[in-house]
Amino acid sequence: MNRTGGLLWHWRAWQRQSQWQGACDDIGQWLDQVQPVRQELLIIGASAGWMMPVRWLQGFKKITTFDIDSWAAPLFRWRHGRQLQASGTELTCCTSDALTPLDAVLRAHPKAAVLFDNVLGQLRFQQPSIDLASAQIDKISRSMRAREWGSVHDAYSGPVYPARPAAGAPRGHPSVRVAHPSPAQNPEIAQFSAQFNARGEWLDHLTANLFPRGTPVHHIAWPYAPNYSHWLQAGWIAP
Ligand SMILES: C[S@@+](CC[C@H](N)C(=O)[O-])C[C@H]1O[C@@H](n2cnc3c(N)ncnc32)[C@H](O)[C@@H]1O
Repeated sequence: MNRTGGLLWHWRAWQRQSQWQGACDDIGQWLDQVQPVRQELLIIGASAGWMMPVRWLQGFKKITTFDIDSWAAPLFRWRHGRQLQASGTELTCCTSDALTPLDAVLRAHPKAAVLFDNVLGQLRFQQPSIDLASAQIDKISRSMRAREWGSVHDAYSGPVYPARPAAGAPRGHPSVRVAHPSPAQNPEIAQFSAQFNARGEWLDHLTANLFPRGTPVHHIAWPYAPNYSHWLQAGWIAP
């Protein structure tokens, strides 16, 4: 069973487009600052690109998407195909695992930059243990050395009081130039995290050590449901 994609994901993403718009805009603003060196892009965990701004994708000459969900490829083409065709971007959508055979995927696309698109934070649900998930994230990080790559992923998620914050994502999120910030260390992060109005225990998605130290990390609030939020982190590493 695919615990991170499939029809339920597509249904939720389609239904919650307006609630998720703030987070999508923030992902778009982060990507607008990314100036890729490569003209070819692999997107791993692309799904239908529900949270992906097509204007950034249009800057590439060639895009290959990977997703294990058989609905992802047709829905990605449906959502973005026409605009990518208009910009002359060649699009190939693959229904396959791109994480287990990551080194082979990288060898097959030696000139491509890679975007892990909200997939690495879910590995803890796909692996039998937290240790195995952490080890896989560590291995992915090592495989990406010497490549141009980026990731947007869950850092934490958990229950929130529904009354506050008001509709939509909190705006004006800080982005900070520290790889492993914690609220105790960084006042901007403390201010950012306070906006969630969190209650109870939050889940650690094991992604804290994914980026090389010093990578500029953008922090994005994703109000997934009225009573449950995700704290996304996004970063891009030049070759
Ligand atoms: C949260 S969704 C991604 C959302 C997507 N980026 C969007 O904007 O709609 C996570 C996706 O990762 C996919 N996925 C999980 N494991 C994968 C793997 N090993 N290789 C490729 N895709 C994978 C899931 O099928 C799911 O569609």
